[in-house]
Amino acid sequence: MHSLVKVGVLTAGGDCPGLNAVIRAVVRRALAGGHEAVGLWRGYAGLAERSYVELDMRAVSGILHLGGTVLSTSSYDPFREPDGVAKVTAAVEEDAFDAIVAIGGEHTMTITRRLHDEHGVPLVGVPKTIDNDVPCTDFTFGFDTAVQIATDAIDRLHTTAQSHDRVMLVEVMGRNTGWIAVFSGIAGGADAIVIPELELTVEEICAAINARHDRGKSFSIVVVAEGAALAFASGDKRQIRTSQETDMYGYPRLGGIGQALGKEIETRTGFETRVTALGHVQRGGTPTATDRVLATRYGITAAELAEQGEFGRMAALQGTEMTSVPLTSVEGVKHVDLDYLRIAANFFG
Ligand code: F6P
Repeated sequence: MHSLVKVGVLTAGGDCPGLNAVIRAVVRRALAGGHEAVGLWRGYAGLAERSYVELDMRAVSGILHLGGTVLSTSSYDPFREPDGVAKVTAAVEEDAFDAIVAIGGEHTMTITRRLHDEHGVPLVGVPKTIDNDVPCTDFTFGFDTAVQIATDAIDRLHTTAQSHDRVMLVEVMGRNTGWIAVFSGIAGGADAIVIPELELTVEEICAAINARHDRGKSFSIVVVAEGAALAFASGDKRQIRTSQETDMYGYPRLGGIGQALGKEIETRTGFETRVTALGHVQRGGTPTATDRVLATRYGITAAELAEQGEFGRMAALQGTEMTSVPLTSVEGVKHVDLDYLRIAANFFG
């Protein structure tokens, strides 16, 4: 067996509920194996700046249920910073890290793969995102919490929609995928779900709402994913953004499709319409029990991979089993399985 002494752990990119549960699991498993655990502040910046914190039993006590990350996070990318890679590799060597567990999204997994493959850094990846869009793994922790938050919101909007005979639109996150929209839409009994993976025109959405009202229903709930396009039967279509700027990874800043679609629906159907954009509420706060269990499984799997010297791999959930995949196979975005939308569609209109 690979002999470990010092295990680092970092959280990078956007936060999501369950990060602390992973940190706790990695640390507890490392300490139980007789190893030393060290936290790196603010993702890969912590390595480049050699900003560390000793993680003993006390440091990870009482954090299982906490949202956010006790290690802070950043989008620091050593490949984009002057001498970034040299600083990271020097820190790993001179501070004698035997393994580092990097918890992050798709971009962090790319950095992790490159540092491992191109520079021999002993890294293991753990995927995190509320969007559930990381390939090679069925579910990421944080997703269940976001879905629960969105479902709670839909439940609340249902009662007020009913009282006022209104159409209520709920805009949820998910970047270019509709996982949160489809799952919360099914769980909340949405009357229409609009996602990037399957284009629905404004005319089709309005027809579904009108059909529902024609059969005696006086209100409707529409869930729309932030990445869905505003599309028309004419073929005209556009993605709505909060600004024309992109983030540091080149992703557009999404948001606003709810308001844009809401206006179209109100004008075309004549039904009073209100819009709620849930935003970062979906990413904050305590993880659900399901996410705590999943995050704990990810953390233990990652610590075991580190202990076995299985570097360049990402912990993954396939079916009900925890396993791992080479980071080289983690590419692109995992889109919604449209079977879920077919299930949801039984309840539309
Ligand atoms: O990837 C998680 C996510 O919350 C997306 O759903 C959303 O589009 C994006 O991050 C928001 O990013 P930021 O926190 O940079 O505004």
